[in-house]
Amino acid sequence: MTIPRTIEWIPKAEGELMPGLIRLIDQTLLPEKLDYIETTDIQEVWHAIKTLQVRGAPAIGIAAAMGIAAAAQESASDSTENIIATVDQAGAYLATSRPTAVNLFWAIDRMQRLANNNGKLSAIDLKIALIKEAMRIRDEDAAMCRAIGEHGTVLLKDGDTVLTHCNAGSLATAEFGTALAPIYVAKEQGKNIKVYADETRPLLQGSRLTAWELMQAGIDVTVICDNMTAQVMKEGRIDAVMVGADRIAANGDAANKIGTYGVALLAKAHNIPFYVLAPSSTIDMDTATGKDIPIEERADKEITHGFGTATAPDGVKVYAPAFDVTPTELITAIITEKGDYIIK
Ligand code: MRU
Repeated sequence: MTIPRTIEWIPKAEGELMPGLIRLIDQTLLPEKLDYIETTDIQEVWHAIKTLQVRGAPAIGIAAAMGIAAAAQESASDSTENIIATVDQAGAYLATSRPTAVNLFWAIDRMQRLANNNGKLSAIDLKIALIKEAMRIRDEDAAMCRAIGEHGTVLLKDGDTVLTHCNAGSLATAEFGTALAPIYVAKEQGKNIKVYADETRPLLQGSRLTAWELMQAGIDVTVICDNMTAQVMKEGRIDAVMVGADRIAANGDAANKIGTYGVALLAKAHNIPFYVLAPSSTIDMDTATGKDIPIEERADKEITHGFGTATAPDGVKVYAPAFDVTPTELITAIITEKGDYIIK
């Protein structure tokens, strides 16, 4: 099974972590072209997150961690104090890229804490410690995704069909994904699970990314437009909905790609279980309810000129929230790497 790796740290010399560079799949080019961005530049990392070259909550966090490690590496200073200041500045800067996915802030905080707690290290040792921490964040995410897959696959039986929205697959994480992880684990176990991927307007993460990565892995996937979901459910084609999350509030409300809330309402109306799969780093106990989750608004152009062609008149008013919040009562279970946490 071929599962793409969306983000990696590539050391320039074998056996040495430093110097290295960040290698990202440029997700804006998929499915037409599989191409990579290689960088150590913090502004390029910010731009990659902002423009969705790298996207998906866990992948954004990993990109930020590696971006901070790269900023420290690139500093010419041999003063530990200056490296810590660089880390703090790089973190504050990357925090302005996207507001909703809590994994971004969680990863930045983890890198900043590492730097600030290691003021006794030499500058060079601190730089290496930062790269190791970014790699740990990446590796832990890969392990969490696999564990989510193992817990989640228990909910699926051979022959089931899962509907998913957006891309919460390998492209959105270190490896394996969250919502797609149970499907990959099922395939390893010899179970045959089919997937319906909502195309996910306006940026088509479902049709461009989810369909692409599932096809790479040899999984049976069917793309539908977002407005076909109700009909597809009514026809009895869906056994379960599995989606990811960008932030889960303390009460279990879950923010995810715009359109997820509608899918949850439809699942309820058709008596289909609706599962949210996410690593525990997506749960934000400092955010009490979904009302407190900041919702990113995207540029009008992403709606009026999606992929280059005008699809609305010039100058028309647009409202473009990138996420919505599914209330906890519509969620059958939240599945983390620790097992499934049943809401009701
Ligand atoms: O705007 P995006 O593409 O970053 O939105 C991504 C999603 O909504 C994903 O479902 C979510 O981040 C979970 S990824 C495991």
